[in-house]
Parts: sequence; C-alpha cells; structure tokens
Amino acid sequence: MNTGKNIVWHTTSIKREDREALLKQKGVVLWFTGLSGSGKSTVANALEKKLCEAGKLTYLLDGDNIRHGLNRDLGFSVSHRIENIRRITEVSKLFVDAGIITLTAFISPLRRDRNRVRQLLGSRFVEVFVDCSLEVCESRDPKGLYKRARTGEIKEFTGIDSPYEKPENPEIIVCTDIKSAGECAEEIISYLAANAFL
Ligand code: ADX
Repeated sequence: MNTGKNIVWHTTSIKREDREALLKQKGVVLWFTGLSGSGKSTVANALEKKLCEAGKLTYLLDGDNIRHGLNRDLGFSVSHRIENIRRITEVSKLFVDAGIITLTAFISPLRRDRNRVRQLLGSRFVEVFVDCSLEVCESRDPKGLYKRARTGEIKEFTGIDSPYEKPENPEIIVCTDIKSAGECAEEIISYLAANAFL
C-alpha cells in the first residue's frame, strides 16, 4: 500500500479553469442517491440527454455498469460499498477537474461517504436525493432483486437487510413516485441554471 512516502505531487500547467474555458461550462458532480429501483439511472439518463442536446459535455457513472469493470471485485458488504464509493469519489474528482458535468448513479447508502465527497468537492458537489418509498421501489422491482432479497436468496440488500441513510440536506430532491423522469430532469436543470452551473 502507498503510505505517501517517496511520492511527490506534480502540479500541471493546464488547470481546471483552462479546460472549463475551452468547454464553456463548469465541472460539477451531480450525485444521485436513492434505493435500488428509485429511478437514479432513469432520471440521470433523461438529464444527460437534455444536457447533451444543450451542447454540454457530460459523463454518467452508473453503479451497475461500474461494477462490471472498475469495481468488479466488489460485492455488497458494508466495507465493499464504502470502497465502491471511495473509488467513485476519486473518479468523480478527476472528471470534475476535467471540466465535465459528471452524473453518478449509485445507491451510496451511507451519509458519511456522501459527505466525504461533499468535503472533497465543495461547491462542485450537488447531491440529488431520488426520493421514492421502499414500497414503490419494491413494487417496481425492475430486476426482480427485491423478490429474491425477501426470500433470503440475496443477502444484505439495501432497504431490506442493509441500511439506507437518507440525505439530511440535499441540494435537490426529486420524487419519482409522483413525477416523470423528464419532469425530474427539468427540475434539476432549473437548479443548475439558477446556481450558475449552466
Ligand atoms: S452501492 O450501495 O455500493 O452504492 P451500487 O449503486 O454500486 O450500490 O449498486 C447497486 C445495484 O446493484 C442495484 O441497483 C442492484 O441492481 C444491484 N444489487 C445487487 N445486489 C445488491 C444488494 N445486495 N444491495 C443493493 N443492490 C444490489
């Protein structure tokens, strides 16, 4: 493990501000958090499409996809979820430094882990709570995972036998049980415009 010994930070000559000037946008991470089946990926995709149409450079880091590659060695124990989010935090930091509007769609169940990203990225972190009751998520069950969690076939499933800590002060709350993905995406666009991110 790198203990920090014999490693020196290199300052680069081109900085985030230079890249942002080229791209005519501000690097930011839109950190979606919510239960499995709450609509994180769906809203993030709808939003990314709108931003792309508006000429913005974006990138969506999606939990299920990242677990096929970078985080394929991780499962769903608390310690693996912490490591999952730690790596995504570092990747997001790089993307924001690249000037990209970065969207992340991970359950990210622990408040402490999300607050760590907030501390690291400051005003470039926007927490989006995808608020949807467990009952509605479970009734949607798009991947059939809740059913398997209820029978005990899948262990440590978020909301069933693994915790989800709701955000206390998210910048944005979208309610996917009463609004469409498109409406939720519009609400996020309004926030970004009102706060000089667009
Ligand atoms: S996180 O908790 O570490 O942030 P992440 O967003 O990467 O989770 O992955 C969640 C996705 O993995 C869910 O949408 C679901 O499809 C799948 N999954 C498989 N097993 C579990 C589990 N035990 N708990 C939650 N999600 C699971």
